[in-house]
Formats: sequence, C-alpha cells, structure tokens
Amino acid sequence: MCGIVGILNSKSLKSDAIEILKKLEYRGYDSAGISLFSDQKIRTIKSVGKISNLEKKSKNISDKFFSGVIGHTRWATHGVVSRNNAHPFANENLTLVCNGIIENYSQIQNRYKEIPKNIKSDTEVSFYYLSYLIDKYKNPDEAIEIFQKTIRGNFAFVIFIKKNNCFYILKNGSPISISNKNQSFYICSDSSILSNYHDTIFHCEDGDIIKINESKISYLQKKNKISFQKNISYQNPYDKGNYQHFMLKEIHEQPSVLKSTQSKYTSEYFIDFETKFRHLFEVDKIVLVGCGTAYHASMVGEYYFNHFTNKEVSTELASELRYKKINKNKQILYIFISQSGETMDTLMALKYVKSMNHKSLVITNSLESSMVREAEVTIPTYAQKEVGVASTKAFTCQLLSLANLALELGRMENSISNQIYKKNINLLTKLPSKIKKLINEFTPNAKIISKKLSQANACYFIGRNIAYPIALEGSLKLKEISYMHSEGFPGGEMKHGPIALIDKDSITVCLIPNNDLFEKSVSNAQEISARNGKIIILSSVKNMSKINGEIKVMNMPKENIIDTPFIYTIPLQLISYYFALSEGTDIDQPRNLAKSVTVE
Ligand code: AGP
Repeated sequence: MCGIVGILNSKSLKSDAIEILKKLEYRGYDSAGISLFSDQKIRTIKSVGKISNLEKKSKNISDKFFSGVIGHTRWATHGVVSRNNAHPFANENLTLVCNGIIENYSQIQNRYKEIPKNIKSDTEVSFYYLSYLIDKYKNPDEAIEIFQKTIRGNFAFVIFIKKNNCFYILKNGSPISISNKNQSFYICSDSSILSNYHDTIFHCEDGDIIKINESKISYLQKKNKISFQKNISYQNPYDKGNYQHFMLKEIHEQPSVLKSTQSKYTSEYFIDFETKFRHLFEVDKIVLVGCGTAYHASMVGEYYFNHFTNKEVSTELASELRYKKINKNKQILYIFISQSGETMDTLMALKYVKSMNHKSLVITNSLESSMVREAEVTIPTYAQKEVGVASTKAFTCQLLSLANLALELGRMENSISNQIYKKNINLLTKLPSKIKKLINEFTPNAKIISKKLSQANACYFIGRNIAYPIALEGSLKLKEISYMHSEGFPGGEMKHGPIALIDKDSITVCLIPNNDLFEKSVSNAQEISARNGKIIILSSVKNMSKINGEIKVMNMPKENIIDTPFIYTIPLQLISYYFALSEGTDIDQPRNLAKSVTVE
C-alpha cells in the first residue's frame, strides 16, 4: 500500500508534497516523511502518525534552496510503526521511497555484509542495497539497473541520487504516474491527484525505469520517447462540505451517484448490449471476484445472475483464487469488482486468469487504474471518488452495475421476458428516490440502535439468500469503523455452530425481507431470542407476529429481489456510522486499515 509523491522543479515543493500526501492518506497513515533535495544537499523529515504531524514538524523548514522533494505515507507491512521505519530512507547521497513489498529482501539482507542485520523494513534493506551498489559502480544508472534486476515483488520506487543529480522512478506492479509541464514534474501513486497540478500525464508500466535529469525525462533501458497524454481533470473530492466525516457524506451521496450510474447505463452503456457483450458471455461459467466489500458485491451478483439468467455462476475471493488451479477446459468469464482498481490481490487474480486464457471484465470506480489497463472490458461505476476507508457509495454502485448486467444478460439469452426486464429496470430507476427517503427516515433509528450497541459485547448480522451478503457487509462495516466484535452469518447456518455465541450481552441484527424465506428467517430470529440474545429486526413486513425477548422491529420499505440488497444496506451503513461516532473512533481512517490495499 502506501502513497508516494515526487516533485521536481516547482516553486512550492514542501506545501504541494504535504498537500498531495494528505490526499494519499487513504493508502495508509501509520507514518509519513519527506526528503527535500538539491545537487548539494538532502534534508529528511519523518514522523509517526498522520500527515498533520509531519506538517507540524516541517513547519519551519524552508524549501527555498532545493530543486525537488519526495514524500511517503506508510501502511506498515514489514517492521513496526516507528519513525525509523518511516520513509524516505536517506543518507547524504541517496533518498528513496517505496510503495509495495520487496519479497526477496531477507535474501538480499543475508547476502551483503554492508546491510545491517537488525533492520526489519524491506524498503530499508533495499535502501542499503542500492547505496552499496552506488558505491560499487561508478555510474549510478548501472547501479539502478542492477538494483531493479535483483529485487523481486510488486513495487514502485522514487529515488534521488545526489552523485549525478538524477531522479529515478521504478515500477513493477504498483501504480505510479508522472505529470509534466515545461520543466516541472509531479509524480504520484494515484494518478487522479495529478490532474490538479499539470495537464499532461504518463502512466509508468511494469518494468519501466524512468530517469529525470534536471528537466530531461527518458527511459533508462528503452530508446522510445516518453509520450505524455492529456490529463483529465476531476472535481475536488477532498471536501467534506457540511458533513462531519467523508463516510457520512458518501452515504448521503448514494441517491445521486446511483441516479447518475443508472442513467449512464440506460442512456449509453448497456445500449446495444448484444454487439458489445455477446462475445464475452459466450462461456460455460461466470465467476465473480473481489475482496472485502467488493467480494460482498460479488456475492450479491451471484444471486442476481442466478435469479435472472441461466448461467452457471459462483464467487471467489481474489486472494484465494490466485493460488487455485483453474479449469482450462471450461470457458470462463471472470468478473472482477474493485472500487480502486488497484487492490493487489484482485489485480494479480486478473493477471492470473488472463494468463490461463480466460475472459475478463472489470467493474470499477477508477478508470485510470491498473485493472482497467489489464481487463478486456471495463464497466465503470459512476460513484465518483470515495475517500472514507469504509466503502459505502462504491458498494451500492457496484450492486447497481451487477443488477443491470444480470438483467441485460437474462434478456439477451431469453431467460427473462421483456416485461420482467422492464419492470426491474424501472425499479432500479426509482431506487435513488427510495434510498434518499430511507436515509432520511432511518437516521433517527440508527442513532437509537447505536445506543443499544454500546451496551453489547458483540454484534451479529444474519440474513438469508440475497440478504446474506448484506449481513456480511453490515458486519464488516461495523467492525472496521467501530472495532466492535462482529460477524455475519447466513441465518440458516446459526444452528450449525454460531448460535453457541449467543448470550444476553450480544445483539443480532436480523435482515428479514418479504420473500420466500420470510417464515424461515423469522424462525432464525426466534431461535436467537429464545437463547436470551437481543435482536433487532429489519423487515418490510408490518405487524410481524410476536417474538419473545428484547427485540426491536424496524420497518423497511417494500422490496423486490433486485432492490433488496440496496434497501437493507443503507440502515447498516447508518448504524455502523452512528455507533462508531459514539465510540469516538477515527471513522474515515480506522486503525490498521488503508483505503487501497496495494500489497498482497
Ligand atoms: C471496505 O469497506 C473495505 N475497506 C475493503 O474491504 C475494500 O472493499 C477492499 O479492500 C477491496 O477494495 P477495492 O474495491 O478497492 O478492490
């Protein structure tokens, strides 16, 4: 993970670097640092915690006599969170930052006596190794080439060597882009941030070594000229407006982003579906792949495809799929779901299925991402930038994408009638206003439930069929931002083990939509209540028959299978948010997490 910035030849080195690092904080916020440099001097400032600490620490340092800066915000992988392990790693001649993991760092560390044996950070080992190579080889270019050939893993490095006053960018797996105007260069691991600086951009590719010497930029190993393209500018997503947190802002943005996503789909994206997509769906099987929340979206997608099409469909966690044997004899379409388009597990799984000659489609919110560059076809979600670590609007837009895809496929292969297709598209079109009403009406209830949660030791979520992945998502949301112990289960599984967890100090949120499994879901709630577990029922069925014990029934709007996952997601997002608010946690940047998980 981690975020990297590099700036050359700009009037505001320090303030721009800090500004960019703040935007990159979603990639990790364990520690941060910057190195200001010139052909005379390297000056490094590091601190533990968020960028605001670094900002305070570097307040009185002037960038006047420097020509460049590199900076880093860290999500710790190797080595504890400490000032020592913060990047950049620097001495009087070299400074570098890295995003990613160097897999063979311990072999390198063991091989060279010049590398201290007590250091734990893979980047620090790489720093000592490169500094050894620079001393050994007269030409720093040669040292860089040997360095790149030796290190193994997924990484992006930004390096300054004072000896030849050169700046290097190395990429393998982790994203890194460069924007340029005249003599000035901005380098960043999130290309969307660069649009605020320069209007041309270049996305580095795996294996690239780019060298910048004063204002001359070139490949180190290739003869080709680096060609910059026009940079698309984005709205400023880093403004919370009147909201206390990005998460709350993003929950409230759902009606509008769902509306724009649906209107893009109906007005252009899925028009002429057959011509665009038939070739992709001529397969024996569909497999939906993702991590975390995106995996839960995949699970919902499985229920949609199962309901509206005749295709065989299943889901896989990207981190597991990567290491599984894949059936070569079947034609499979893998659909990858990722908000960031950069999640390393998902990206690697995509590369893996491609290498096995299977078809691939990516559903993502980030059109500039590595996954888009890999996939055969991309379906964008139009959720706009999601800043809060906890995914909310990106998730519901992913659901919308999958709902549309399943309906289009069902209609194309005649597994649903035109009438059913139209009815469901109509439901999806009406969804934004339904969601808006629900957010407003449920907010007071979410605040009441959050008070109840503060008296509990654990909170469980249960649901069946299409509500089951939503139970998992509700639980993930709660644990990630409030740190409360929480699990999600399929309602029918409780009696096979998890019901042993139930006691008077637990609360179980039961999702009970009005569908074929309604009675069975009510029984599952009864079984928990009978064991003194407190329950909260979310259901669209009014006047539900009495359940003993302490319960609370919350009325949900009437639902159909297609809008069930949306309707039941909203209350869970709000409950988690208001509970975390009362717990005083760092809602937008919860402990130990990062928005974009760019390591394995
Ligand atoms: C969601 O709240 C999480 N922070 C996390 O599970 C996330 O969904 C997962 O890491 C996948 O990210 P992606 O969608 O960017 O691939």
